[in-house]
Amino acid sequence: MIKVVFISPDGLTQHECNAEIGDTLLDVAQNNDIDIEGACEGNMACSTCHVIVEDAWFGKLPSPKLEENEMLDLAPGLCATSRLGCQIILAEAHDGLVVKLPKETANAGAW
Ligand code: FES
Repeated sequence: MIKVVFISPDGLTQHECNAEIGDTLLDVAQNNDIDIEGACEGNMACSTCHVIVEDAWFGKLPSPKLEENEMLDLAPGLCATSRLGCQIILAEAHDGLVVKLPKETANAGAW
Protein backbone atom coordinates (compact mmCIF):
# COMPACT_ATOMS: atom_id res chain seq x y z
CA MET A 1 0.00 0.00 0.00
CA ILE A 2 1.29 3.45 -0.92
CA LYS A 3 -0.13 6.97 -0.74
CA VAL A 4 -0.80 9.33 -3.61
CA VAL A 5 -1.99 12.91 -3.39
CA PHE A 6 -4.47 14.63 -5.70
CA ILE A 7 -4.56 18.43 -5.70
CA SER A 8 -7.74 20.20 -6.81
CA PRO A 9 -7.62 22.35 -9.98
CA ASP A 10 -7.62 25.53 -7.89
CA GLY A 11 -4.70 24.21 -5.84
CA LEU A 12 -6.57 24.70 -2.58
CA THR A 13 -7.49 21.14 -1.65
CA GLN A 14 -5.36 18.04 -1.30
CA HIS A 15 -6.69 14.51 -1.06
CA GLU A 16 -4.30 11.85 0.19
CA CYS A 17 -5.44 8.42 -0.96
CA ASN A 18 -4.30 4.88 -0.30
CA ALA A 19 -3.29 3.00 -3.43
CA GLU A 20 -2.40 -0.59 -4.18
CA ILE A 21 0.74 -1.43 -6.13
CA GLY A 22 -0.31 -2.22 -9.69
CA ASP A 23 -3.34 0.07 -9.66
CA THR A 24 -3.44 2.87 -12.17
CA LEU A 25 -3.73 6.42 -10.96
CA LEU A 26 -7.17 6.47 -12.58
CA ASP A 27 -8.20 3.44 -10.49
CA VAL A 28 -7.16 5.25 -7.33
CA ALA A 29 -9.02 8.41 -8.31
CA GLN A 30 -12.21 6.51 -9.09
CA ASN A 31 -11.99 4.47 -5.88
CA ASN A 32 -11.72 7.67 -3.85
CA ASP A 33 -14.33 9.89 -5.53
CA ILE A 34 -11.69 12.15 -7.06
CA ASP A 35 -13.22 14.05 -9.96
CA ILE A 36 -11.44 12.37 -12.89
CA GLU A 37 -13.79 11.04 -15.54
CA GLY A 38 -11.82 8.34 -17.36
CA ALA A 39 -14.42 8.14 -20.15
CA CYS A 40 -12.72 5.39 -22.15
CA GLU A 41 -11.87 3.36 -19.04
CA GLY A 42 -8.15 3.31 -19.67
CA ASN A 43 -8.11 2.56 -23.38
CA MET A 44 -6.16 5.68 -24.34
CA ALA A 45 -9.09 6.88 -26.43
CA CYS A 46 -9.97 10.05 -24.53
CA SER A 47 -8.04 12.55 -22.44
CA THR A 48 -10.47 12.86 -19.56
CA CYS A 49 -8.00 11.23 -17.18
CA HIS A 50 -5.47 14.04 -17.76
CA VAL A 51 -3.42 14.87 -14.67
CA ILE A 52 -0.52 17.25 -14.16
CA VAL A 53 2.29 15.53 -12.31
CA GLU A 54 4.25 17.59 -9.79
CA ASP A 55 7.63 18.51 -11.27
CA ALA A 56 9.66 16.52 -8.75
CA TRP A 57 7.72 13.36 -9.59
CA PHE A 58 7.52 13.58 -13.36
CA GLY A 59 10.97 12.15 -14.04
CA LYS A 60 10.35 9.25 -11.65
CA LEU A 61 7.55 7.86 -13.79
CA PRO A 62 8.18 5.60 -16.78
CA SER A 63 8.12 7.57 -20.02
CA PRO A 64 4.78 7.84 -21.80
CA LYS A 65 4.17 5.82 -24.96
CA LEU A 66 3.76 7.60 -28.28
CA GLU A 67 0.00 6.95 -28.20
CA GLU A 68 -0.29 8.61 -24.80
CA ASN A 69 1.54 11.71 -25.99
CA GLU A 70 -0.67 11.87 -29.08
CA MET A 71 -3.80 11.78 -26.93
CA LEU A 72 -2.37 14.33 -24.50
CA ASP A 73 -1.75 16.71 -27.40
CA LEU A 74 -5.54 16.99 -27.63
CA ALA A 75 -6.05 17.70 -23.93
CA PRO A 76 -6.98 21.22 -22.84
CA GLY A 77 -4.49 22.79 -20.46
CA LEU A 78 -1.60 20.56 -21.54
CA CYS A 79 1.53 21.12 -19.43
CA ALA A 80 5.13 19.89 -19.66
CA THR A 81 4.37 17.36 -16.92
CA SER A 82 0.95 16.21 -18.15
CA ARG A 83 0.14 12.49 -18.17
CA LEU A 84 -2.89 10.29 -18.64
CA GLY A 85 -3.88 8.91 -15.25
CA CYS A 86 -4.89 5.59 -16.75
CA GLN A 87 -1.36 5.04 -18.03
CA ILE A 88 0.40 5.56 -14.71
CA ILE A 89 0.74 2.15 -13.10
CA LEU A 90 1.73 2.56 -9.50
CA ALA A 91 4.80 0.93 -8.01
CA GLU A 92 6.39 1.04 -4.58
CA ALA A 93 8.66 3.86 -5.79
CA HIS A 94 5.62 6.06 -6.33
CA ASP A 95 4.75 6.34 -2.64
CA GLY A 96 3.93 10.02 -2.09
CA LEU A 97 3.25 10.81 -5.76
CA VAL A 98 1.55 14.19 -6.16
CA VAL A 99 -0.61 15.15 -9.14
CA LYS A 100 -2.89 18.09 -9.81
CA LEU A 101 -6.18 17.95 -11.66
CA PRO A 102 -6.43 20.21 -14.72
CA LYS A 103 -8.95 23.07 -14.75
CA GLU A 104 -10.88 21.40 -17.56
CA THR A 105 -10.89 18.19 -19.51
CA ALA A 106 -12.38 17.21 -22.82
CA ASN A 107 -13.12 13.90 -24.39
CA ALA A 108 -10.72 14.20 -27.28
CA GLY A 109 -11.13 10.63 -28.43
CA ALA A 110 -12.70 9.72 -31.72
CA TRP A 111 -15.77 8.04 -30.36
S1 FES B 1 -9.36 7.03 -19.40
FE1 FES B 1 -9.38 7.59 -21.49
S2 FES B 1 -7.31 7.93 -21.92
FE2 FES B 1 -7.29 7.47 -19.82
